[in-house]
Amino acid sequence: MPVTGTLYESAHAKINLYLHVTGRRPDGYHLLDSLAVFTGVGDMLALHPGHGAAGAVSLDITGPFGAGLVADADSNLILRAARLLRAEIGGTDGLEPVHVVLDKMLPVASGIGGGSADAAAALRLLLRAWPGNVPRERLMALATELGADVPVCIDQRAARMGGIGERLDPAPALPACGIMLVNCGEAVSTPAVFRARAPVFTPAASLPSAWPDVAAMVRDLSGLTNDLQDAACAICPTIRTVLDVLEGVPDCRLARMSGSGATCFALFDSPQAAQDAQAAVERPGWWVWAGPLHA
Ligand code: C5P
Repeated sequence: MPVTGTLYESAHAKINLYLHVTGRRPDGYHLLDSLAVFTGVGDMLALHPGHGAAGAVSLDITGPFGAGLVADADSNLILRAARLLRAEIGGTDGLEPVHVVLDKMLPVASGIGGGSADAAAALRLLLRAWPGNVPRERLMALATELGADVPVCIDQRAARMGGIGERLDPAPALPACGIMLVNCGEAVSTPAVFRARAPVFTPAASLPSAWPDVAAMVRDLSGLTNDLQDAACAICPTIRTVLDVLEGVPDCRLARMSGSGATCFALFDSPQAAQDAQAAVERPGWWVWAGPLHA
């Protein structure tokens, strides 16, 4: 299909409502049990007709957090996603050259899966622009190759993550709630956090099929943990400050770190309650967003 106009895909921030490290694979990757949800805020990818050879992908990065990234073919997850997809399709014959613009709204290396969501959105965009039938199980395998958090970002729906993140099971039905995200502006290295954690494992959680209201969800989540939080706080003590601020907000029902940090989240009874609390949390240099979960 020739690319005539612009195609868009959004790449929503992913939050780990809890994250248990349940074991370790022989290759060093950690086995996880986590409930991932998506929020209303995200990066935006736009795909335009491009120039150059068949299958060429050029990339521009804009947006408030764009300066933290480079469009480097080896490290940039969007360009790596394009390369994997070209190989999967079996070459560049008949593939339109395309130009992708990433509007980077989410802080980089911050535990909310921004890079993973971008990679997943790039796969979705390129599958719309390029002919070729990639079965879902192959798409999920490509996603896993790009990163442990990429598979859950393909559908951007709440899911229970197992394995190293590639095994996806249905999440409990979630109540409408509000969420606030706070990032203190310090990038945290995921491998460093995994390395620094205490070498203990937590069993997988037992979850109901649905939470009727925020109180029930918070009651269950309170008994669970993010097993990376202490290690991340040791590496980046400002995370503890952020959690203290969130825990001090009167309407906050639960405050916790997401992923390997440094972004923390707080749950509220409604998006409005989260937005009403935003001004009290803002500090110079902090990125704060409040609103609904991504339905
Ligand atoms: O898969 P991804 O590239 O996002 O992971 C970054 C790093 O985080 C890995 O190289 C590994 O050190 C660590 N990691 C892990 N276990 C996971 C996910 C990530 O040890 N399940």
